[in-house]
Amino acid sequence: MSFLLNAWYVATFSREVGVDAPFARTLLGRPVVLYRDEAQRAVALDDRCAHRFAPLSQGRIVQGALECPYHGLRFNAGGQCVHNPHGDGRVPSGAQVRTYPTVERYGAVWFWPGDPARADAALLPTFPFVDPDSNITHEGYLHTRAHYQLSADNLLDLSHFQFLHPDTLGSEAMARGDVQSGHLGDTVWVRRSAYDEALQPFVAEGFGVAPGTRVDRWMDVRWTPPGLLSIVIGVTAAGMARESGLIAPSAHWLTPETERTTHYFFAFGLPKEMGDTARQLVRYAVEGLMKPFESEDLPMLEAQQNNLGDRDFWEMQPALLPIDAGAIRARRIMERLIAAERADAAGSQAASARTIAVAPVADTSRAVA
Ligand code: FES
Ligand SMILES: [Fe+2]
Repeated sequence: MSFLLNAWYVATFSREVGVDAPFARTLLGRPVVLYRDEAQRAVALDDRCAHRFAPLSQGRIVQGALECPYHGLRFNAGGQCVHNPHGDGRVPSGAQVRTYPTVERYGAVWFWPGDPARADAALLPTFPFVDPDSNITHEGYLHTRAHYQLSADNLLDLSHFQFLHPDTLGSEAMARGDVQSGHLGDTVWVRRSAYDEALQPFVAEGFGVAPGTRVDRWMDVRWTPPGLLSIVIGVTAAGMARESGLIAPSAHWLTPETERTTHYFFAFGLPKEMGDTARQLVRYAVEGLMKPFESEDLPMLEAQQNNLGDRDFWEMQPALLPIDAGAIRARRIMERLIAAERADAAGSQAASARTIAVAPVADTSRAVA
């Protein structure tokens, strides 16, 4: 499977990982189990016992270790077997389960499927508006039967609002609006602005805009690899400076489940100082968006995936429009990063193969001497 491995992905929202029961999820095509150890740290392991490959997620958590449901071996947060209930209790050598580095931030547990030595929390892009220490947040999750890059295309090109979501998010002014896109290193930006717009009631109510008021609306989308987006939507009275408006920032995190399915996590956050107003608004946004997401975006993404089948996106020779600039840039960045990672891995394999080939010669010469 062609995923970028040296990257942080959201495994799940923090509240779903507990000390009472393990949590199972397929991430990048691999079964993973998550739980909290005695220090409350989120732990991610392969969901496959080292003995006879039973799913550890069907077991229980005992003193900070995960007990296999089949024969009772226990594995600690480092993936090491620490308890064998059979015979003399000796722990067999090699009884080890793969672990993944995790970091907990922005109300989510992130996991790193690549080289653990390269897992640096500083590589995570920032989403300060969903930091639960300073914000009131509300989260949504959708399982999508489509490649995660189709979801990224969808979020990087919000021109679809007027066509796919005409009753909730779209407007003619938005369809006609200005679009700019650019990139800074591996970060892609798309900025869409609509002027003198009449908002649909769902958006107007969220921003406290009286029906019929003309507004300017802008949507700033930031994408970072492998599929981590923030979208800031702002509204101001028509013709007024952006600073005088209100904004609704949201995070959108895409984690491939398989080549054809995606975990889509999203969250809204507003400062704690806003109190109950923030609580109501973030809930309103997430619950209100579930309807167009579930009944309009998801069926479209799944229909696209069905039409694509197993074929490569480029092999299908898509027609390209100016509105695709950001999404295409993001795809090109992912292709480059994945190719570089594969070249690195191939280089390391070739180096170790050379080492193995040289070793018997050295051994022989020692034996002769
Ligand atoms: S399969 Fe896990 S202890 Fe046997
Ligand atoms: Fe949409």
